[in-house]
Amino acid sequence: MAGGVIVADSGGKQYHSHVTAYVIVTCIVAATGGLMFGYDIGISGGVTSMDEFLSKFFPSVYRKSKDVTSDTNQYCKFDSQLLTLFTSSLYLAALVASFIASTISRVFGRKVTMFGGGIMFLAGSLLNGFAQNVAMLIAGRILLGIGVGFANQAVPLYLSEMAPPHIRGALNIAFQLAITTGILIANLLNYGLSKMERNGWRWSLGLAAIPALIMSIGAIFLPDTPNSFIQRGQNDKARQVLQNIRGTEDVNNEFEDLLEASEVARLVTNPWGNILRSQYRPQLVITLLIAFFQQLTGINVIMFYAPVLFKTLGFGDDASLMAAVITGLVNMFSTLVSLFTVDKFGRRILFLQGGIQMIICQLVVGSMIAAEFGTSGQGDFSRSAGNVTITFICLYVAGFAWSWGPLAWLVPSEIFPLEIRSAGQSINVSVNMLFTFIIGQVFLTLLCHMKFGLFYFFGGFVIIMTIFVYFFVPETKNAPIDEMNKVWKAHWFWARFIPDNAAGLGQRKSSTYTPLV
Ligand code: BGC
Repeated sequence: MAGGVIVADSGGKQYHSHVTAYVIVTCIVAATGGLMFGYDIGISGGVTSMDEFLSKFFPSVYRKSKDVTSDTNQYCKFDSQLLTLFTSSLYLAALVASFIASTISRVFGRKVTMFGGGIMFLAGSLLNGFAQNVAMLIAGRILLGIGVGFANQAVPLYLSEMAPPHIRGALNIAFQLAITTGILIANLLNYGLSKMERNGWRWSLGLAAIPALIMSIGAIFLPDTPNSFIQRGQNDKARQVLQNIRGTEDVNNEFEDLLEASEVARLVTNPWGNILRSQYRPQLVITLLIAFFQQLTGINVIMFYAPVLFKTLGFGDDASLMAAVITGLVNMFSTLVSLFTVDKFGRRILFLQGGIQMIICQLVVGSMIAAEFGTSGQGDFSRSAGNVTITFICLYVAGFAWSWGPLAWLVPSEIFPLEIRSAGQSINVSVNMLFTFIIGQVFLTLLCHMKFGLFYFFGGFVIIMTIFVYFFVPETKNAPIDEMNKVWKAHWFWARFIPDNAAGLGQRKSSTYTPLV
């Protein structure tokens, strides 16, 4: 057990808890879930730029990428639907799997879902590592996608149900930190393994088995969450787990709240129908748009295709993979900025500052590429132009990493009332995956047709989303989850949707919370 007793005020009652070893293990499991997702995001771009991989599975792309004749259009040399399908098929599978996972985690528990996710991911990584043809590659990607869908549905739920209330926010961003760590590890491995004479790509793809094994084994040994036990009628086990994870016998207040919350949730038999009611309109609209907008920042153009993009900009193989490592480092370290500031400065400041930074960077990158390649796609990047471009790409990644990266997972998870929270989470995951798929699938074609304008295209979306945040996303920093209706009620636009008798509006004696916006 680490640390002393913490008395946290939640829902007007006092919860007693220590930060126990169980909670720390919880973080590690969450981290493995994030690692699997991140490893996957980072690995495919590097692999698809490895010559041996391309020549074996995508020979026509390989030939085009090696074509140095003067009429080669730089924007189009990697454009291949099959190549993009390799990257993006995973996200389509994850989208479907996240709905299945929500039922499995309700009926069988979070633990089983995480275990299932780990095993699927393991099977996918083996299939990919030993792949002999494109069909095996894509089947492997689909299994990996099911693993990601399961993990992204269950791990954040598991985390927030295990975490003591006073560290829940930080733990949420720790999930994104794990995603970025996974991306960085993948970038580093790609860099090292691309130097292997043969089969470097097999190791890159096959080593995904390690985070998968850690997650599967972790899931076997971890207890399920108290909420999940209660949901399945095992109240004694729930109380026991709660005592263990809080490090104290005195868990009555929290236990009663869990029972009560699960009673309320049980009254709502159809969360999918309920979520459409007008009183939930603010949460629904904001979640749909946040998940959609996060992908329309264009971040995954960098995460998936950084090496391919850098090659397009005229860097050599090695320099391209190295540049991906640099963006990976920037991504991971910048996430720490939000972890340490999100509860102090609030979500809105991070969203707005990060958004403005991204817009400026996208304009600069688009203009640099326009200046060097123009619309014909002919020419070469000079070293200095390449360096300026990479610098602005890094500043763009940093802006994302302390704003839309973590906040797109944090904000939707904290604005829904309990009765529709898990349905809300499914919507968040699936919309995110859908647009991850679409961007992954169309990026190389878009680059080929929109050329440098692609960066202005995503920049335009960041302008729209920054204006949207300014007017429509209220500050949720420090707002107790069960008093979120006060936030909507104080908002110039959303107030009209919240009935005057909505839950959480009455002044509780113990409540000192006043909305900020
Ligand atoms: C996004 C991913 C993205 C990653 C980059 C996550 O929050 O959902 O699509 O690749 O951040 O760090």
